[in-house]
Amino acid sequence: MILHWTPFDSALYHQSMKLREKVLRHPLGMQFTKEDLAIEQHQKHLVVYSSQKEVMGGLSLVSLDESLVKLRQMWVLPEYQGMGIGRTVVKEAHRLARAHHAQEIYCHARENAIGFYEKMLYSQKGSPFLEVGLTHYVMRYRLANNEEAVHG
Ligand SMILES: CC(C)(COP(=O)(O)OP(=O)(O)OC[C@H]1O[C@@H](n2cnc3c(N)ncnc32)[C@H](O)[C@@H]1OP(=O)(O)O)[C@@H](O)C(=O)NCCC(=O)NCCS
Repeated sequence: MILHWTPFDSALYHQSMKLREKVLRHPLGMQFTKEDLAIEQHQKHLVVYSSQKEVMGGLSLVSLDESLVKLRQMWVLPEYQGMGIGRTVVKEAHRLARAHHAQEIYCHARENAIGFYEKMLYSQKGSPFLEVGLTHYVMRYRLANNEEAVHG
């Protein structure tokens, strides 16, 4: 699999965004709004694709120049889930965040994905809250002094 940090508004960004919308929004009867996408111009977008150039998943990072980085929009196409792609993209996000001297990373995890982030050694913080109509939890991972933690 090939990992690529693609610029906002690139062809690969748009191809990936359409698939991400199918995985993260369509099951909720929702679509990305102009406002949803406008904020992404300031974020980093990781896309993973196969040697046949088929986009399989990705994630985005926010506030990369601060010590606490937000990971968002984590997705893998259903037919490729459970094959280690999620772990691979999270590890790459950690690598980039560390390269920017980030100390911690966090996400708003959907309840169904808590187990995945626990496997990535993230810890649940605080009370549940609603986002896009779904229960979410803040989950955090300490990047500093934890270099090998998600390897596996
Ligand atoms: C959650 C998601 C990103 C995980 O990606 P993935 O490629 O399927 O995950 P991986 O194959 O890398 O799994 C890594 C480990 O986490 C476990 N895991 C994956 N998804 C899990 C889940 N939903 N619950 C519990 N454990 C999970 C795997 O079994 C694996 O464990 P192992 O190391 O013991 O084998 C993917 O299932 C997905 O896109 N789901 C739908 C969208 C979504 O909910 N995104 C998260 C929004 S917060």
